Amino acid sequence: MATAKIVSLKALVHGVSHRAPLRRCRNLTSAVRCYSAATSPPSKAVVYDQHGSPDVVTRVTELPPVEIKDNDVCVRMLAAPINPSDINRIEGVYPVRPPMPAVGGYEGVGEVHAIGSAVKGLSAGDWVIPSPPSSGTWQTYVVKEQTVWHKIDKRTPMEYAATVTVNPLSALRMLEDFVALKSGDTIVQNGATSIVGQCVIQLARLHGIHSINIIRDRAGSDEAKANLQQLGADEVFTESQLEVKNVRGLLGNIPEPVLGFNCVGGNAASLILKFLKQGGTMVTYGGMSKKPITVSTSAFIFKELTLKGFWLQRWMSSDKAEECRSMIDYLLGLCRDGKLKYEYDLSFYHLM
Ligand SMILES: NC(=O)c1ccc[n+]([C@@H]2O[C@H](COP(=O)([O-])OP(=O)(O)OC[C@H]3O[C@@H](n4cnc5c(N)ncnc54)[C@H](OP(=O)(O)O)[C@@H]3O)[C@@H](O)[C@H]2O)c1
Repeated sequence: MATAKIVSLKALVHGVSHRAPLRRCRNLTSAVRCYSAATSPPSKAVVYDQHGSPDVVTRVTELPPVEIKDNDVCVRMLAAPINPSDINRIEGVYPVRPPMPAVGGYEGVGEVHAIGSAVKGLSAGDWVIPSPPSSGTWQTYVVKEQTVWHKIDKRTPMEYAATVTVNPLSALRMLEDFVALKSGDTIVQNGATSIVGQCVIQLARLHGIHSINIIRDRAGSDEAKANLQQLGADEVFTESQLEVKNVRGLLGNIPEPVLGFNCVGGNAASLILKFLKQGGTMVTYGGMSKKPITVSTSAFIFKELTLKGFWLQRWMSSDKAEECRSMIDYLLGLCRDGKLKYEYDLSFYHLM
C-alpha cells in the first residue's frame, strides 16, 4: 500500500548540494547569544529557493535561532510526512505556495520546547500539531503563534499524530459533505491504496457504508487487495478486472454506489462513473495519473451524474478552526483505539 512517500524524504535530500545556509551565527559569541531563553535553537531544515523538481531544488541547511515572542510557541518537531501536495508546492504547481526561500512540509507533530511569556494552556513537553496545517514543518524547531498549535493526547502513536490533519481529515469531510449517506449505502473510489483511500474504507465501515475499491494493476496488487479487505473493503478490483461491459453486475448484493471519490483521473475516473447509480455524484480530490477526466454525454443526460471537486484547504479557510480540531481529536481517538490505521514507512524520523 502507500508507504513509499515517507522514505522518499530521504531521497528528497539525497544528492542535494549543501550550499551555504541562509544565515548563520558568525562566531561562537553570537552563537551563544542565539541560545538565550527568548530564542529557539538553530533549526535544521529542508529548504527550497526556487520551484522545480524536489531532488534538484531542495537542500538541507541550518536556519539561525528565531525570536520567541510573547504569544509564540517553539516546537521541536518529532515527525513530519511528505504528502503529494508537498511535492506539488515545491514544484510550483500547487495553487498556494509559500514565499521563498521556503521550508518544506505542511503537517507534522512536535513537542513544546519553549513558550512566550503570554502563552497559556501549553507547557514544555506537550505534544502539538499545527491545526489547520501550516507550512514549514520539515525542520527541527518551528516557532509560531500559540493559535497555530493544537495540543493532542501524548498516547497517540506518533505517525498518526503527524499525518492526521490532511488525509484522514479529507476522508472524513468527503464522506460527510457531498451526499447524506446512511447505513447500507455504498461508495466507490479509485486510488484505494492511498492513505485517503484507506481512511475512507474504515470510516465508511464504521458507519455501515459499503465500499467498492479500485486499484491500479501493478506488482503486489493481490497483497494490496488483501490488505484493503482487512481494513473493511467490501470489494477491491484492479482496473483490468473492470474491463467488462456491465461493471455493476460484479457487485452482487451490494447496492449501487451513490457517491464516488476520484484521486487518479483518466480511466480510473471513468470506472467510477460506470459504477455510480443514476443521479450519483463523483468527487475529484486528486489527479495522481495526471490524466484528464473524460465524461460521456450520456452520463450527464441519461444518468444525471454530478461531478464535484474537494479541496481541504478551501474548506479549512472558511472559519473552520474549531470544527477542524474536534474532528482531529475524533480521528486520533479512533487511531488510539485501533479503529483507524494506515501504513507509513517510518524512516522519515531519521531525516534530521
Ligand atoms: N483535495 C484535497 O484537499 C486533498 C487532500 C488530501 C489528499 N489529496 C490528494 O489525494 C491523493 C492521495 O493522497 P495520499 O497522500 O493519500 O496518497 P498516497 O498515500 O501517497 O498514495 C498515492 C496513491 O496514488 C496512486 N498512484 C500513484 N501514482 C499513480 C498513477 N500514476 N496512476 C494511478 N494511481 C497512482 C497510488 O497507487 P499505488 O498503491 O498503486 O502506488 C496510491 O493509491 C493525492 O492526489 C493527494 O494530492 C487531496
